[in-house]
Amino acid sequence: MKPRDFQQAVLDWYKHQGRTDLPWQNPITPYRVWVSEIMLQQTQVSTVIPYFERFLTSFPHIEVLAKASIDNVLHHWTGLGYYARARNLHKTAQLVAFEMNQQFPDTVEELSALPGIGRSTAGAIRSIGFNKPAAILDGNVKRVLARFAAVDGWPGKTAVHNQLWDIAERYNPDQQTQQYTQAMMDLGALLCTKKSPDCNHCPIASNCKALAEGNQTLYPGKKPKKAIPIRESIFLMLRNSRGDILLQKNPPAGLWGGLWVLPQIQQYSELKITCQTLGLTIKSESYLEQQRHTFSHFHLDYQPLQVRVEETCNIISENSDWVWYNAQNPLSLGMPAPIKALLNT
Ligand code: ADE
Repeated sequence: MKPRDFQQAVLDWYKHQGRTDLPWQNPITPYRVWVSEIMLQQTQVSTVIPYFERFLTSFPHIEVLAKASIDNVLHHWTGLGYYARARNLHKTAQLVAFEMNQQFPDTVEELSALPGIGRSTAGAIRSIGFNKPAAILDGNVKRVLARFAAVDGWPGKTAVHNQLWDIAERYNPDQQTQQYTQAMMDLGALLCTKKSPDCNHCPIASNCKALAEGNQTLYPGKKPKKAIPIRESIFLMLRNSRGDILLQKNPPAGLWGGLWVLPQIQQYSELKITCQTLGLTIKSESYLEQQRHTFSHFHLDYQPLQVRVEETCNIISENSDWVWYNAQNPLSLGMPAPIKALLNT
């Protein structure tokens, strides 16, 4: 199939079947496209929509975001996961607002140099946000192209990845790039789905190699399975006489970086010394049921331990990395979803 025919078929389909009413499409600006693309990395459209709307209400343009506190930005990200995205978003906002005169760059090269923006996201910002030609290769587009060209192998492998990029570049148009990029994402999300592709309605089905072979769902190749390890931890719910629970701020980098979390111990025997260090005496204790939170590379099995405590000195109130949190009168803090859920029990 010639690129021109491929593009025409995809664009014609988009005109009637594509999505045009997503919140970040109305209106389209580089800022709104950038925020949405970062939120949409590893996250579904239906999950992102309410987050995007709240985010844009609080941070309507880049300068507001750049001047916001990281705590407030993370607060808006609570529950969305992959919090490095929020930290990078904030860093990029500061670079663009304070060092680039509030103008987003429009080349893939310059965009990719900003924190949190890879080649595909840069392509999406350039093509959708600026309506200039650039290819993308997000999860949806990988699936469409891997099937269309029957590309064998797992796209996490460099050779397969490069092959898919070559195809993405070859078919990418010079014009109507905004519609074309969105069309390719929509094709993947709406028709060329993982488990049950709707090939009858697909504009490029007549040239799809996987369909011709009759094994669409074998593409793209699966990641070789590796069992992910389990880590265990005890989450301390230290509650004072006012009913407040103690939270600790994580260091900025790493797992749940910059977020407010419950203090953790590995073993019950560490409870006493932990409380002593914090100037707390233990009144009573009770375990809640163990729960699991799965990260991309390990399971965290955490056992909440409720401990009633009394403060014997002011170590906590004098340290900005600790706070007594009251669920009835909540502070605007960024928290991982499992912690937030525990505080509301
Ligand atoms: N996933 C990533 N970017 C997207 C977009 N612009 N629309 C829908 N889904 C997406």
